[in-house]
Amino acid sequence: VKTEDQKLHLDLERCLAPALEDLPTPRLVVYRRRVEENIRRMRSYLEAVAPGSGLGHLRPHAKTHKCRWATELLAASGVSKHKCTPNELDMLLEAGARDVFVAYPLLLPQARRLAERVARFPEARIAAQVGGEEHARMLARAAREQGVEIDCYLDLDVGSGRTGMPPASAPELARAIRDAGLFEGLRLRGLHAYDGHNHSPDPGERAACAREAMAALVAGLRALERAGIPVERLIVAGSPGFEPCLEELVVRHGVEAEVDVSPGTWIFWDSGYERLMPAKFEMAALLLARVMDRPRGDLSTLDMGYKRWAIDQGPLELFSRRGLTVAKTSEEHTVIRHEPDDRPALGAPILAAPRHVCPTVNLWESFTLVGRDGAIEWPAVPIEARNR
Ligand SMILES: Cc1ncc(COP(=O)(O)O)c(C=O)c1O
Repeated sequence: VKTEDQKLHLDLERCLAPALEDLPTPRLVVYRRRVEENIRRMRSYLEAVAPGSGLGHLRPHAKTHKCRWATELLAASGVSKHKCTPNELDMLLEAGARDVFVAYPLLLPQARRLAERVARFPEARIAAQVGGEEHARMLARAAREQGVEIDCYLDLDVGSGRTGMPPASAPELARAIRDAGLFEGLRLRGLHAYDGHNHSPDPGERAACAREAMAALVAGLRALERAGIPVERLIVAGSPGFEPCLEELVVRHGVEAEVDVSPGTWIFWDSGYERLMPAKFEMAALLLARVMDRPRGDLSTLDMGYKRWAIDQGPLELFSRRGLTVAKTSEEHTVIRHEPDDRPALGAPILAAPRHVCPTVNLWESFTLVGRDGAIEWPAVPIEARNR
C-alpha cells in the first residue's frame, strides 16, 4: 500500500505543470491528455470483452463531466449515446447529443419537461426511465399533452435497492404499455439495470455481484421475450461493473438485445475509485490550491474548503506532496498535517485528487484545461450543467 501511495503522489506531483504556477487558486484543473487516455483505455477494456466493438457499447453517464467540452470530445471519439439525469439533459442536447437516456424516476413536472424536449428535438432519441406503473402513467400523460411518443426503459432493481421494480414485475407493466390504454404515448424500448451496489475492492467480488445482478436482469428479459414483447436494448452498469456486466450479457447469456454500459466516473476518475480499482483509469480532474497560512509547525492551511470539494465520501486523501493528511476541514479552509521539518512554503501550490469527482465537478462553474503540451488552453471550460 505504501508503494502504491508513493506512486499516486508522484503521479499528482507530475501534474504540477509550470503553467499552473501563476494561476489564482483555488481551481479545478482538467488534463486533456489524461481524459483522452481514459477514452483510449475505455475502448481497450470494451474491446477486450467484445472484440471489434470499439466504443459501440458505451453510453457514458454525463453526471460526472456535466459539460459540453467532454460531450464534444466523446463525440469526436465516436461516442454517440449518452445517459444523464434530468439535470444534464439540456446541456447534452445543446452540445449536439441526439441519443440520450434520462435515467431518473420522473414525476409529472419533470416528465412534462422531458416531453417538451422530445417535441422540440424531433430528430433526437430521448428516452426516459419508468420505475413502475405510476411513473408510466405520468410519463404517458406528459407525452399525450405534448402530442409526442416517448421511448422508455423499464428500470429494474437488480440489487441496489434505490429505484426500479423487481424484475418479476416487468412483464406485467411491459404488457400494459404495449396494450396502450392508460399508457398511450409510451413506446417500450428496453430495460435499465444499474448495479449501484457493486463496490467491492476485490475484482472477483465485483464480477460475482455483476453476475448476480445481470442474472436478475436476464430473468426479466426472458420473461418479456416469452410474453412476446420485443426488447431492443439493455442499459446497465457504472464504472466498477461495466466489464463483468457486459461480459455476462453478451458473452455468457448471448442476449440478442443491444447492450449499452453506462459508467460515468471513468472519464475523470477520483481517489475513491482509485482505491477500489488501482490504475484502472487516470485521475484527470484535480484541485489546485495554495498554502495560504501556516498556523503551527505541523499544520498548514490550503485556500480551499469543502465548498469546492465534495465531502460525502470523506476528506481529501491524496495530494501532490508526500506525507500530507487532512487535519481539519471547513467551508473555505483545508488544514493539512505534515512533518514539522517538511513544511510547505507559504504560497506553495498543491494539487489534490477529488475523492468523489461527480459532486466535486458540480461545485465549479468552470475548469482550467491543461493541454497536451502542458500549456493552459484558454478560455476556461464552462461546466454548463453544474449546480444541479
Ligand atoms: C443510474 C446510474 N448509472 C450510471 C452511473 C455511473 O456510475 P459510476 O459513477 O460508477 O461510473 C451512476 C452513478 O451514480 C448512476 O446513478
